Amino acid sequence: MDIEGKVAVVTGGAGGIGRGLVHALLARGAHVVVADVEAAALTSAIDELAPLGTTRGVLVDVADEDSVVALADDVYATEGRCDLLFANAGVTSGGGGLPWEQEVNDWRWCFSVNVLGVAATVLTFLPRMLGAGIPGEVVATSSGDGGVAPVPYASVYAASKAAVSCFIESVAHQLRQIEAPVNAHVFYPGGGLLDTGLWTAARNRPAELERVRPRPPAPGTTFAEFKAQLEAAGLPAKIVDLNWLGMKVLEDLDEGRYILGPDAGRFGSLLHARADAIAKSELPPTLLH
Ligand SMILES: NC(=O)c1ccc[n+]([C@@H]2O[C@H](COP(=O)([O-])OP(=O)(O)OC[C@H]3O[C@@H](n4cnc5c(N)ncnc54)[C@H](O)[C@@H]3O)[C@@H](O)[C@H]2O)c1
Repeated sequence: MDIEGKVAVVTGGAGGIGRGLVHALLARGAHVVVADVEAAALTSAIDELAPLGTTRGVLVDVADEDSVVALADDVYATEGRCDLLFANAGVTSGGGGLPWEQEVNDWRWCFSVNVLGVAATVLTFLPRMLGAGIPGEVVATSSGDGGVAPVPYASVYAASKAAVSCFIESVAHQLRQIEAPVNAHVFYPGGGLLDTGLWTAARNRPAELERVRPRPPAPGTTFAEFKAQLEAAGLPAKIVDLNWLGMKVLEDLDEGRYILGPDAGRFGSLLHARADAIAKSELPPTLLH
């Protein structure tokens, strides 16, 4: 895929995995609009990445549809088009724990960003991309947690990512059915341990969606605990270079894959085990199986 000169929009691009995507896109010659809710992180990301290519930052809260529409208006007024859309912004549900200890506000916050935010981003940009009648790619960042199988102590997050995977798969099928020049893809970040800001996602949690019953973080929800869990389960626990992960996504797009990211092969055996259990009406194995 020729990325040189293309206009890319990356939500949640100021940090973590999104920033790795921005780095890779700039390295391949794209013009990148970095859209993020965190003003200070956005400013420093633009300052640090600007020497790599042409980029600018726009503040957006993907949980607010008006804010997403304002982002699209800005992009279409300034850049005139969007060729590559990465609906990547995401949060945890604020610590995880036993599913029945989660609060409705955990669901509201997580789903407002991970589900409604991805939906608003796609619903706002995709019709404009289709209206332009030129080739394009839409990528939604999901997670193996939920997109493939749940991590039970992250039940709210897993449910949100199952929704993202299901939604973008529907979008991809419908685009293919109408023979649109735009394709949709799901991105499963992976390849090892991802040392990103997701572990401190509550820094962006709105005050009105705070927990009503504050409680200590659940076991397994800090970076160190999660690393120990992966190691105990014999899963890859090396820390991933996020710029490499961004390049891997673009290579997978080059190859026309629907599923982007390094773990599709590893998911295969787990999905077979899940299918076998489901066919026998049994409880399927989790992502940490
Ligand atoms: N880190 C992991 O292990 C992992 C694994 C699988 C999937 N993911 C997914 O990858 C994506 C990126 O997460 P990350 O790990 O890089 O975390 P991160 O916190 O480093 O990056 C997320 C970015 O999204 C921004 N953001 C948060 N809420 C927003 C909102 N309402 N509007 C706009 N921007 C907002 C944050 O400011 C941040 O820059 C998420 O969708 C996450 O669920 C992460």
